[in-house]
Amino acid sequence: MSALSVNHLLGIKEVSTDDIKLILETANQFKEVINRPIKKVPTLRDITIANLFFENSTRTRLSFELAEKRLSADVINFSASSSSVSKGETLVDTVNNILSMKVDMVVMRHPNPGAGVFLSKQIDATIVNAGDGAHEHPTQALLDAYSIKEKLGDLQGVRVAIIGDVLHSRVALSNIFCLQKLGAEVMVCGPATLLPKYISSLGVHVEYNLDKALAWCDVANMLRVQHERQDIKYFPSVREYTMQYGLTMDRLNALNKEIVVMHPGPINRGVEITTEVADSHQSIILRQVENGVAVRMAVLYLLSQ
Ligand code: CP
Repeated sequence: MSALSVNHLLGIKEVSTDDIKLILETANQFKEVINRPIKKVPTLRDITIANLFFENSTRTRLSFELAEKRLSADVINFSASSSSVSKGETLVDTVNNILSMKVDMVVMRHPNPGAGVFLSKQIDATIVNAGDGAHEHPTQALLDAYSIKEKLGDLQGVRVAIIGDVLHSRVALSNIFCLQKLGAEVMVCGPATLLPKYISSLGVHVEYNLDKALAWCDVANMLRVQHERQDIKYFPSVREYTMQYGLTMDRLNALNKEIVVMHPGPINRGVEITTEVADSHQSIILRQVENGVAVRMAVLYLLSQ
């Protein structure tokens, strides 16, 4: 059962605009709840959720766990590094063992693109994708859209530039789908080596010059340079990348407008964004994290109905 048109949240591509709007409206109500002195509601009292993390995470993992606990769900946590996966157990065997403990929903982060889709065809539980390789990170896109809407009032016609390592980014792809469904215009900007060749077929503007992208946009979403996914050199040096694509106060001050600065985290301070910018009043980075809890509460609640 689900109050959305989908039974799992595997990616934003498969989710309708009405679903996204319903999630964002529901998140508004949960944001009000988590700002009350008593932050907990009994909504998922009879539901057990397993958080399966086959890849490192700080924000997403803590945010889902907090969202689940605020909804009064029973929660179990699994980390691949300290599990029997290292003894050769398969993904399906691991998950089926967890499900035999009567788990209703699975929140999963996995390094392989499509892992959530694969799992949804193998097991009888609701799956929420918490990031699958360089494919999708749907709840990040939803919390990003929520945060832009909260800051600017609407997404319709808003110009969002997604800047940096688009090639290795699941955040970029989910953001493109989500923002376009909500009526925003999207640009990607970065060195040609870090922009996938297919990207213009998604209907986004493509720009290689950071200052031009900043002059165009209302919102700059800075992406982390994902050194851990780069098996070859995509740019000559980190210093050169920072000179060409690092967001600095000088660059922001050279604009004749004040843009909103976002970053999904974790931040490489001094690489894609300076400390001054990350901590400036234009940055909504911590607001994104705060909103993530309400948005994830909305997703879990709507999928469970
Ligand atoms: N934004 C994000 O997914 O951060 P984590 O990798 O820390 O979860």
